[in-house]
Amino acid sequence: MTIRAVVKGVGHYLPERIVPNSEFEATLDTSDEWIRSRSGIERRHFAAEGQTTSDLAAKAAVMALENAGLAANDIDAIVVATSTPDLTFPSVATMVQEKLGMTRGFGFDVQAVCAGFVFALSTANALIVSGQAKRVLVIGAETFSRILDWTDRSTCVLFGDGAGAVVLEAETGTGTTSDRGVLSADLNSDGRYRDILFVDGGVSTTGQSGKVRMQGNVLFRQAVEKLATTADTALEKIGLSGADVDWIVPHQANLRIIAATAARMNVPIERVVLTVQDHGNTSAASIPLALSVGVARGQIKPGDLLVVEAIGGGLAWGAVVLRW
Ligand code: UT7
Repeated sequence: MTIRAVVKGVGHYLPERIVPNSEFEATLDTSDEWIRSRSGIERRHFAAEGQTTSDLAAKAAVMALENAGLAANDIDAIVVATSTPDLTFPSVATMVQEKLGMTRGFGFDVQAVCAGFVFALSTANALIVSGQAKRVLVIGAETFSRILDWTDRSTCVLFGDGAGAVVLEAETGTGTTSDRGVLSADLNSDGRYRDILFVDGGVSTTGQSGKVRMQGNVLFRQAVEKLATTADTALEKIGLSGADVDWIVPHQANLRIIAATAARMNVPIERVVLTVQDHGNTSAASIPLALSVGVARGQIKPGDLLVVEAIGGGLAWGAVVLRW
């Protein structure tokens, strides 16, 4: 008997305020043309003053629960992927628990920056497969606007705020790749790459939350190679390849990285869910946001084989293969 963690519901939330590229032209030496052509980003959402990561996360969670036809107290665990928590502690997950009125189970955060949702999904799968939880809410939520340096044109034009969520439920499968649910995962990190993408502050150093610092072009080269390798590895673990994939749902950092990764995997760009143009880089939120939008658009359908893949600060990177 094989236990599978199957997606029962999906949801997302984007803050109301939409900021087009042109808005940055007033304060920075940049242009809509540069941002579009280098990153594929056209606009992004920014959280309102006072709106926190747990607010966004809870809204995405409510939509995912409704989509699954479940109530908060049907859930055993909440795993939130975020690098922009409301407070240093407690976890965003426990704040979401409280906001949902969930009085049972447990919650905790996972921090793997832009790869956070992949790590959280894999962790939630492990909780389900090991029998520690039957239903897990997996959320990616970020307010990156709070850690951007508005004078640094090489970073502040790239990121956005948002949240996405999926509900996973234990189901008995056949043990084959025709099962629905999470089928394989490949996780990686290498701390030697710390200086490529980091935040220049923190609790035990400056005592301030700090701002995002990135060597974009160095990361770009690492990203394409590592993303294609991790996605292929996750597929190979279960005897599949790019030819079997219905949808790549990648971390939405840069359209050129997404396209180059798909090309290396021999997957046509028509089979990639793209939201980067509308959301920018929402870090750990980008994949669950793309899953929810992909379903709403009618792209992702039950039974489709999906690969989700991401890379971010650490470096940390990985991929999960799942059947929707
Ligand atoms: O989510 C975690 C993962 N993150 C990523 O994967 C991001 C990876 N990196 C990227 O997406 C790209 O490297 C960027 C979009 C950040 C930059 O694109 P690029 O083609 O690698 O450009 P570049 O960094 O090599 O910069 C080219 C030029 C530079 O000018 P010089 O030195 O050639 O004169 C930059 O100063 O573009 C300049 N530049 C800008 N110009 C106008 C940098 N930012 C801007 C800007 N507007 N906003």
